[in-house]
Amino acid sequence: MRPKLEHPIKIAPSILTADLAYLAKIIRETEAGGVEYIHLDVMDGRFVPNITFGPLLVSTIRRLTDLPLDVHLMIEEPDRYLADFAEAGADIITVHVETTPHLHRTIQRTIELGCKAGVALNPATPVESIREISPFVDMVLVMTVNPGFGGQKFIETSTSKIGRMRALLDEFNPTCDLEVDGGIGDHNIGDVIQRGANVIVAGSAIYNDDASIAENLARLRAGYAKRAERSRNR
Ligand code: DX5
Ligand code: ZN
Repeated sequence: MRPKLEHPIKIAPSILTADLAYLAKIIRETEAGGVEYIHLDVMDGRFVPNITFGPLLVSTIRRLTDLPLDVHLMIEEPDRYLADFAEAGADIITVHVETTPHLHRTIQRTIELGCKAGVALNPATPVESIREISPFVDMVLVMTVNPGFGGQKFIETSTSKIGRMRALLDEFNPTCDLEVDGGIGDHNIGDVIQRGANVIVAGSAIYNDDASIAENLARLRAGYAKRAERSRNR
């Protein structure tokens, strides 16, 4: 049997629930917290009920940081906008499998534009639906809430789905990153990592009125360090 690859853990804060009146300060503090990506949630009011922002804000954030920008497109017909997001400075562009009939073409186009390509699945979409595309992508994103809003509760059945997705990727694309998004905090980050997720999106657990960005990031990291220690001692 092939030995399992260790995938480095990356934290990808979603600024969706941050107060954008302080955008520059927030990006500065997030960067100082030693995160790996900035996760940007683009919503069109059609694929999801909410509307957020487009390439203009992505290019603004591009000027504020050198961190890789992880752009999560929750939009219908994503092909129409790939070039605009690449031009705006996206490093990773993730499209939803539910939004495009010609997913392989969409992924090829993303790569041609010089970006890493990701594919996302809604909670009701089966793991198997990305099997054929999995060898072509850099990242798979398992949604652990229904996309549209920050601050929702983690859907518990997602934990086993993450494990099944990691197993599929180990077979068809072992180096592929596995991202999880929605309802992640210090209470469950250890579980999702243990099941095989390695790119962790968190919004309301990082940007809230309870504590600073630095304190919340430290709490998240402690969440998975504790879990790792427990499994080592078992
Ligand atoms: C949901 C978005 C997520 C979300 C994360 O549609 O894709 O990135 O805002 O926020 P929390 O961590 O608050 O669920
Ligand atoms: Zn997201």
